Amino acid sequence: VAAVTHEAESATVSRGLVESNHAGFTGSGFVNYDNVSGSYVQWTVDAAQAGRVGLKLRFANGTASSRPMDITVNGALAADDRAFPGTGAWTSWSTTTLTADLKAGTNTIRATAVQSAGGPNVDHLTVETTPTTGGTPA
Ligand code: GCU
Repeated sequence: VAAVTHEAESATVSRGLVESNHAGFTGSGFVNYDNVSGSYVQWTVDAAQAGRVGLKLRFANGTASSRPMDITVNGALAADDRAFPGTGAWTSWSTTTLTADLKAGTNTIRATAVQSAGGPNVDHLTVETTPTTGGTPA
């Protein structure tokens, strides 16, 4: 399935820093969320047509505890307290997949930490370019 990768280091960051000290990221770095609830990364994503698409968030979490985040699309929850579990090391990157409804034109996708530990380190967001007609996105 065709998809576009949107780097976290190119997104809007609230209470986080772009860093590159843990290898394995794509692009030029990743976002290290501040260890606070409410820290977020927000991407602007253009869609040619309205519809449901698959999203993937690539992350690393070198702790043993999940760093859950809310994923919102245009302000509406697409995933509530999505788990971002430990990946074994800050250099071990994983993806988590969800689906969300995009509108035609400009969409805002935000991943917000919901616990005081903040979010995981976030590398990028991948967004499918063609809506699914139901079923599980690849
Ligand atoms: C370490 C690690 C950071 C990470 C941070 C955290 O400092 O080097 O990349 O973001 O832990 O726990 O959030």
